[in-house]
Order: sequence, then C-alpha cells, then structure tokens
Amino acid sequence: MKDDVLILVGGEGGEGVISASEILVKAAARAGYEVYTFRTFPAEIRGGHAQMQIRVSPKEILSLGDRFDVVIAMNDEAVQLHLHEIKAGGILIYDKSEYDKASVADLKTLDPNGYIQKNNITVVMVPMTDTAGRDLKTPKSKNMVATGAICAALPCFRIDIIKEMIKQQFIKKGDLVVQTNWQALDAGVKYIQPNLKLFDSLQIGEPKSKKSKRMVTTGNIAFSLGSILAGCKYFAGYPITPASDVLEYLSVHLPKFGGNVIQTEDEISALASVLGASYAGLRAYTATSGPGFSLMQELLGFAHIAELPCVVLDVQRGGPSTGLPTKAEQSDLNIAVFGAHGDAPRIVLAPLDVPDCLQVAIKSFNLADKYQTPVIVLSEQSLAHRFEPIEWIDPSTVAIDRGKIVEEVQLNGKPRYARYDLTEDHISPRVLPGTKNYYYIMGGLEHNIYGKPGYTPEIHKTMTEKRMKKLELAREEIEKDKYYFEEFGDTNASIGIMGWGATIGSTKEAILLLKKEGISVKTLYTKVLSPLPVETIGKWLKSLDMVVVIEMNALGQFTRVLEAAFKRDFVSLTKCDGVPIKPEEIVGKVKSALALERRLV
Ligand code: COA
Repeated sequence: MKDDVLILVGGEGGEGVISASEILVKAAARAGYEVYTFRTFPAEIRGGHAQMQIRVSPKEILSLGDRFDVVIAMNDEAVQLHLHEIKAGGILIYDKSEYDKASVADLKTLDPNGYIQKNNITVVMVPMTDTAGRDLKTPKSKNMVATGAICAALPCFRIDIIKEMIKQQFIKKGDLVVQTNWQALDAGVKYIQPNLKLFDSLQIGEPKSKKSKRMVTTGNIAFSLGSILAGCKYFAGYPITPASDVLEYLSVHLPKFGGNVIQTEDEISALASVLGASYAGLRAYTATSGPGFSLMQELLGFAHIAELPCVVLDVQRGGPSTGLPTKAEQSDLNIAVFGAHGDAPRIVLAPLDVPDCLQVAIKSFNLADKYQTPVIVLSEQSLAHRFEPIEWIDPSTVAIDRGKIVEEVQLNGKPRYARYDLTEDHISPRVLPGTKNYYYIMGGLEHNIYGKPGYTPEIHKTMTEKRMKKLELAREEIEKDKYYFEEFGDTNASIGIMGWGATIGSTKEAILLLKKEGISVKTLYTKVLSPLPVETIGKWLKSLDMVVVIEMNALGQFTRVLEAAFKRDFVSLTKCDGVPIKPEEIVGKVKSALALERRLV
C-alpha cells in the first residue's frame, strides 16, 4: 500500500473540473482521509485550462507533493500539459473522444480501445464526452463519467459518499440534474471495470483512527469563519479574485450572527466604510487582492494616525497590476510591510495553512483592537482556494480581547477626554460613540492628545513615537507567544530554511526528503512579518551556517527583509510562475547551495 495518492484533474474551464474535484475531495475527507488540494484556472469565465490537484492519504499530508500518480484528462490540452508530470508507473485516464485530436505524438500510436503501457505510463481510455453527450444527452455530466472511473479505481473515494456529494453539489439545479449525474457516475464506474487491476499499485491504506468532528474547507472560508468567531460584525468589500469568496460567504452567513455585509463601489470605499464601523465600535474588516490593496494604502495611513483598529485580508495573486488574477504568488510583502507613506509601521501576519487561516483571523482582530492599529493578513491564491480539513472549534473557547475600550474615562487632571493620551504602554483608552459625557474628533491630520490638529515639531515627534512604540510593544507580545512560530526538523542541524505562509508544507516535506539523503535541516516559519520578531529569529539563526529563504516572488522580498534585519547572507530560492513551490525544488536548492559552499571552502 502507498502512503498517499496524487491525482490531477484537468480540462477546459466550464467543463466542471472544479466541481468534480470538490466532490472527490469532500468524499475522501468524509471517509476519514486527509486531503490537500491545489486548484488553478484561467481568468476567463469559460475556456482556458482549469486544473485541480488532489492528494489523499490516511496519514498527515504536508504539501501538494511533486509528480502525479493519476492524471484525469478531460481534453487534449490536459494531456499536453501534464503527461510529463506523471510518475513512472502512473496512469493517464483520457477521454476517448478527445483521443483523435491528440497532439502528443506518443499517444497517436496507442490503441484507443483498451489501455496501453508506454514509457512506464499506462493510458486508460474512458468515453467521457460520448457517454455524457450522445448517450445521456447531458454534456455537462462528462466530469461525472470521469469521477465514476476514478472512484471505481481508487476505493478511497467511496461511491455511496460520492453520490451524496453529487446531490449536495447539484440539487440547486434540480432533481433531474442529480439523477443524470448519478447515471454518468455509474457509466464511468462501468467503463473502468476491465482495467481495475492496473490501479493495484496506486492503492492507499484506510485511515486508522476515527476522526473527530471536522469540516473540509478552503483558506478563504476558514478565514471568514475565524472572523465570525472573533466577533466581527461588519464586512465591506469589492469583488476581486481570489478574495471574492470571502465577500460571497459572509454576505450569506454574517447576518445570521448579527453582522452586516456591504458590497461597495470600489476598494477605497470598502476600507473607508470599515473604518467608519470601527470608529463606531464594531470589529470590521475587508478582503481584497493586490490591485485593490494598492488602492487602500492611503486609508491604511489614515487608520494608523487615527489609531483605528481594522483588519485587511490581502489574498495575494500574481502581479503587478491585474497580473495573474487566478495564480499563486507571494509578492505583496513589500507593499504590506512598507507600503505606507509617512512613518506608519503595520502589523502584518501570514497564515501557514487552512486551519491556521481561521486562527490568524482571530489573532488579527485581537491585535488590531489591542494596539488600535491596522492589521494586514497576507494569504495567497493557492492557500485561499485549497481544501483541507479543519477541526471543529467550540466558539466559547475563543479568546476575544477588545483592548482598552472604556466606559468611564479617568481625566487625570485634564479638562476633557484625551483620546490620544500619553500612557505608559503608549495605548490610549478608547471610548465608543454614545459613551455618556465623552466624544472625540478624529481625523487624518497630526493631532495633540485631544485629537485637535497640531503641527508643532513637538506634537509630531511625540505622536509618531507613541504610535511606533505601540508596535514595539506588539512585537514583545508576539515574541512571547509560541503560536506565531512553527519549527520543524533536526534541532541540531546547521542548515536552516526560512519562509513565510503556505510554503511551509513543501519545506517540511523537503526536510524529510533531505533527511533520507543524510542531510540534516531545520526550519523556522514566523507568522508575523511586521513587526519582525527579531529576537526569536536572531536566536534561531545563531547556530546556522547556511540559511535558505524560500518564497513565491521574483525579488526575494522576505530575503531582503531578513538581510536588512540580521546583516548576514541568505541563500534565496524565489519562484514566480504562478504555481506553489514543490518539495523537489527546495531539495534541489539546498543541495546545490551545499555543493557550492563545499567547493568554496
Ligand atoms: N452537471 C451540472 N452542472 C455542472 C456539472 C455537472 N456535472 N459540472 C459542472 N457544472 C456546472 C457548475 O455547477 C458550474 O455552474 P455555475 O456556473 O452555475 O456555478 C459550471 O458548470 C462550471 O463548473 P465548475 O466545476 O464550477 O468550474 P470549471 O472547472 O468548469 O471551471 C472556472 C470554470 C472556475 C474556470 C470559471 O468559471 C471561473 O470562475 N474562472 C475564473 C474567473 C475569474 O476569477 N477571473 C478573474 C477575473 S479578475
């Protein structure tokens, strides 16, 4: 039995690649397996290449993996793109009606009636288009013929659960749609029967332990759930891929928890209205992606000087400009950390996986309230759209810290309420509108402790320092909280890997692969990119001879931050092709850096 199986479903956008994959993923998770996915599709609504990778295992899954065990190709393009990514011994399930169009020379020599083994890959034909279109008269159900074939071949996808999932997915389109999809599924099962033996070497074991209460969801939905658990009562946003599903999800669910959602005319208004809600005392946030995040910069400066808590979720995609709307990249670190005009340091967090998106959401609201400042959360497309199981959380266990909101103000000898009072911890007590006897005026101009505009050197210096020192206090809190750091690997290793965000899975898997080759490596991921936890990272770096920093951007943005902070050299592994970093790529970089170092010594 294998530890895991890695499947790719590929076809044309509009053909139902994503629906079929979601059904498979949810069914495997419901049967108790661990799942891990990556989906990517073109920016167009119809056409172009859509694909979803699904890794299933009875054990913990760290990353997306490398090469595929099975590719389900719903069209010829999927064959062209992915044939070379199939492992030796792997299988291509290919739509028979697409076969005639095959442009891959090797495949032209195959017998379309059966299966062929060539170059250590087996090609199995399944008549997806013909069955759905000609036999069942429902061309849309082509993806379910493919689904039936893979379910019969790999029993980790249980047919009974798949049928239930099909019902859940398509019931809104009517009973008939569900029925025909079940028929298509059965047809797929039938077509693969003669070739089942071919899949013997790809079988995985059954999950051992019974799973606790959990749900399978994506990074975006996990963040949305986290925000509801954190007591968020207001969301404003403008649709933008890959962040739109946060707006869609919250518009349905936030009102059930007493909250409100508004779709604004653009991203500037979205953040402006979030800041209004925050002033009124609500926990509020917006979600966007690169182009929208750029538009929000001025208002983030405003939130900083006005000391208004708010959370901005930036689901990064390939940039700059409209760039690659549906592809993965981690290239907004610079704008998130340094994008402000004026001296306006921010808190910037980066979740590591889907369950962590939920936790980071809760943390981000607490930090924003406690330090009365904007908190930016950097997610990215692959994490935002990836399915993973998350454990059920008891809402009563969620710690909520609203910071210094007071109903009674201590005047401390002052004639009236000083909204920006200078305190020992640099955080001034906040009153909410409606608090008896107290009000304050808030604006974007520099101000004195009462909020009155003031431009003297003394005022600007004092207030700038006040705002910056709050962030220093936040750093001290963060350094003490183990939640913000994830370590993995051999603690005695002299080679380290650093990174941020969702690349952690590939890093962990690379460390395990390197260990098998006798190379000892460890990693540290910080979930806080600003203020940089210099003490924790500095201590960790001390024992290391070589540190590889991996990230999905071309400039090596995090590497530059680390170089500036620690004045030492780092080996930079950057990637900006829209696809997440794979364990093999990290292994290759560590080995080549090691070889180079040895040559130099
Ligand atoms: N029976 C009936 N209906 C089916 C079906 C079946 N067996 N399989 C799929 N469908 C339906 C789906 O329900 C969906 O219907 P909907 O449009 O009413 O929701 C539709 O067919 C598309 O299928 P789906 O599986 O969701 O997607 P896909 O794999 O075909 O890919 C996308 C389509 C996702 C690529 C495309 O629609 C899209 O959204 N592109 C991205 C656009 C974008 O974000 N651009 C960026 C702008 S800046």
